[in-house]
Amino acid sequence: MKIIRVKNYEEASEKAYEVMKEFIKPGAVLGLATGSTPLGLYALMVKDHEENGTDYSQIRTFNLDEYVGLPLHHRESYYSFMHTNLFNKVGIPEENTHVPGGLGDLEANCKAYDEMLAKESVDIQLLGIGADGHIGFNEPGTPFNLGTHVTDLTEQTRKDNQRFFNDLGEETPTQAVTMGPATIMAAKNVLLIATGENKAEAIKGMIEGPVSEECQASLLQNHPSCTVIIDEGAGKLLENH
Ligand code: GLP
Repeated sequence: MKIIRVKNYEEASEKAYEVMKEFIKPGAVLGLATGSTPLGLYALMVKDHEENGTDYSQIRTFNLDEYVGLPLHHRESYYSFMHTNLFNKVGIPEENTHVPGGLGDLEANCKAYDEMLAKESVDIQLLGIGADGHIGFNEPGTPFNLGTHVTDLTEQTRKDNQRFFNDLGEETPTQAVTMGPATIMAAKNVLLIATGENKAEAIKGMIEGPVSEECQASLLQNHPSCTVIIDEGAGKLLENH
């Protein structure tokens, strides 16, 4: 793992953009993530597109995950999140973007997603990390050999994500469709960003703990090209890095 320490969220987003921009070229396949972590990076990608005209028309994207049961255009669906924060702002053709389907026949959706991904080579997979060490929505205990699958969200994850649903008077969904650990590991490069003290334990487990299904992100220790960007808060429990 290549570990880059930065001061705060803003610096983390800038560093992440520096890494990401090398991959933003025609023919690239980007693995994308949701959550508050990548928002700063996406804003910089949008700024670059607006100011420099960087072309996204021949870039394809595959997102990590989607909630089960939310209508596609629900404000908090990851489909909406990606369109609002990135896709609609950089002019990427709709058919080039892919988000796992959280409606209808979920098993069929997972199979179709894996079949598509089997034909692709994701150049760089962007990741955030959950407070329990999850990547995508792979919660503790997920077998490392799983591909795209349906998962139950832990109470911790639902609590962490409740802030997005509060003003709608809704509860965080209980399930999600997510790329599996094996799907994530197949990407040629991985870029994980973590900021804030609530990620410190997960980061400690990921970098200095044993590779264990209890901390899903620890599997990235085995990835041949993984860059991790962490700010002071997220890195505060590290002893040897
Ligand atoms: C969410 C997403 C993850 C994300 C993580 C952290 O539940 N499924 O992809 O990395 O939790 O979210 P945030 O960036 O908002 O802290």
